[in-house]
Amino acid sequence: MLFEGLELVSALATLAACLVSVTLLLAVSQQLWQLRWAATRDKSCKLPIPKGSMGFPLIGETGHWLLQVFSKIFSHEALESYLPKIQLVIQDTLRAWSSHPEAINVYQEAQKLTFRMAIRVLLGFSIPEEDLGHLFEVYQQFVENVFSLPVDLPFSGYRRGIQARQILQKSLEKAIREKLQCTQGKDYSDALDILIESSKEHGKEMTMQELKDGTLELIFAAYATTASASTSLIMQLLKHPAVLEKLREELRAQGILHSGGCPCEGTLRLDTLSGLHYLDCVIKEVMRLFTPVSGGYRTVLQTFELDGFQIPKGWSVMYSIRDTHDTAPVFKDVNVFDPDRFGQARSEDKDGRFHYLPFGGGVRTCLGKHLAKLFLKVLAVELASTSRFELATRTFPRITLVPVLHPVDGLSVKFFGLDSNQNKILPETEAMLSTTV
Ligand code: HEM
Repeated sequence: MLFEGLELVSALATLAACLVSVTLLLAVSQQLWQLRWAATRDKSCKLPIPKGSMGFPLIGETGHWLLQVFSKIFSHEALESYLPKIQLVIQDTLRAWSSHPEAINVYQEAQKLTFRMAIRVLLGFSIPEEDLGHLFEVYQQFVENVFSLPVDLPFSGYRRGIQARQILQKSLEKAIREKLQCTQGKDYSDALDILIESSKEHGKEMTMQELKDGTLELIFAAYATTASASTSLIMQLLKHPAVLEKLREELRAQGILHSGGCPCEGTLRLDTLSGLHYLDCVIKEVMRLFTPVSGGYRTVLQTFELDGFQIPKGWSVMYSIRDTHDTAPVFKDVNVFDPDRFGQARSEDKDGRFHYLPFGGGVRTCLGKHLAKLFLKVLAVELASTSRFELATRTFPRITLVPVLHPVDGLSVKFFGLDSNQNKILPETEAMLSTTV
């Protein structure tokens, strides 16, 4: 009897300790997100910091007018106009990777690629290539220190982060001013054009500070997540040559893959991509098994019950994307990389709304998800049609989950062009990018 009583007390103590640790963990991690967002912007910025989401601070609350603007930025029409530029940036990058005599660090290069895509395509800045390289280094210094404690001492991470942010904001201001003055030679509207124009339409002309903060936050949302998914895509194509071959078959059947590689320079269209069903399955499977973001936060708006536990209104809760994918009963052999699970014959994701959510869910779902999927599809098409690539290490690297999922040593891969002529960066591509973007 005494033992039973002691066991009960010890079980209750363990439960209480667990509850306290989970609550502390939630509170600390949520504070870190808030600090992260606070660190991306200047003190004078009046834009709201979001509650109950790890989402985009520029928008803040769900009813905000900026949400409507963002639906325009990522509309079908807008994506169609970004597509040729995205393809050019990717083709150019793959040529550079293939002409590199050594193996490259895929995760690092994918970060540069997504940064370049955000700067050149999404924001339409025509920053010279050398300056872009320097800006990328400063941006990395900023990202590495975003989570630091707000202790403003010399050499502290916080000080380094703030310094990096100031340099970035200076360069962004210069690029925004140049862009506002020079609209000639542009054949499409980028996200920043739409943001500026639509805010005027809503009678809310944005200040230079808001534009700089908004721009920085847009790069932040797009950069690490898409680089993580791009690296996972390349790793899975390396691990599963049969999947790569099936993808090439599909491209060949659609007339996209020609012997000697894809001759098309920036000619892909959205409807061509939506006709590639196996490609869609491959991207979905990469995002299921290697979801870049672990989860998100929500504030409970109404008390509810879950599995017999009452969750009170006002509480902060965290949902896990990774655990959801790992435990969803709809997926057979959850740990196996099997794109066909999303094919017409099996459609494992068709039952239930919340089993598959690499981009989150509900009203705060990822606003850039269509752009991200588009980017990944173009990358896969270009890899399959123009590149041969081999793992440069004996074994595949270990994966770590923070701050986003990525291989520990970055994934070392040697790229070769399918056609040796394609290993050169074509001067026309450079010229086209610098005039139109
Ligand atoms: C593979 C790449 C990406 C992944 C896995 C991803 C994932 C996510 C996730 C999980 C969220 C949080 C949703 C929630 O709180 O439930 C989110 C939010 C967001 N993402 Fe993405 N994202 C990706 C790429 C992008 C890109 C390219 C952009 C555009 C520039 C973008 C813009 C945003 C924005 C604006 C939000 C905040 C939405 C809000 O709070 O209302 N994301 N993303």
